Amino acid sequence: VTEPDLVGRHVVVTAGGTREPLDPVRFLGNRSSGKQGYALARTAAARGARVTLIEANTGLPDPAGVDVVRIGTAVQLREAVLKAAPDADVVVMAAAVADFRPENYATGKIKKKDGQEPEPIVLVRNPDILAEISADRSRPGQMIVGFAAETDDVLANGRAKLARKGCDLLVVNEVGERKTFGSEENEAVVLGADGSETPVPYGPKEALAETVWDLVASRLG
Ligand code: C5P
Repeated sequence: VTEPDLVGRHVVVTAGGTREPLDPVRFLGNRSSGKQGYALARTAAARGARVTLIEANTGLPDPAGVDVVRIGTAVQLREAVLKAAPDADVVVMAAAVADFRPENYATGKIKKKDGQEPEPIVLVRNPDILAEISADRSRPGQMIVGFAAETDDVLANGRAKLARKGCDLLVVNEVGERKTFGSEENEAVVLGADGSETPVPYGPKEALAETVWDLVASRLG
């Protein structure tokens, strides 16, 4: 039985992976499926929250009873998050945000020319949305949750990232052989800025989502 412990709360969840266009038909992207973010949105709604789901390129159907905002790029994701955050009790950044985007966008399709080398792709940095909203704290008492995928030194790297980003909780996924993007399952440890460390055993993404909301609900007070 799900506890209605998020009634009266507005939560914002980001899901999926941003795509950074090169021209009208091509982009730089990543393999995020959006499944973890959607599991977070569904479980928050089941616990009584008003949910705004900001999704990037998942192709997944809208969960029932959730407001869905569709965006494509990291810059659009930032705009949508900054618009929604001032009214949110909790922001969970589950989306995989591209760290870089192509400096130039070609309005026409880039063509190959016989006997010519391809033009190099020059990248520029995208804004770090999680760090920005963690520094802003537009709403007092707001909780901010980040995600991180690490391959080694999971705890040490996770702790350093939590401090660098300035969020309250960081869900650290160990990425490895069976724990790949797009799978139905996940294994993680949730690190708290208060020093807490909550391991979540290998299992469905819904179970990890419920653990995140347990930790959030107990801290919202
Ligand atoms: O630095 P790293 O990409 O590992 O951090 C991952 C976390 O930061 C995720 O919560 C992701 O949504 C967020 N992020 C962000 N803006 C970026 C890059 C990552 O908000 N440009």
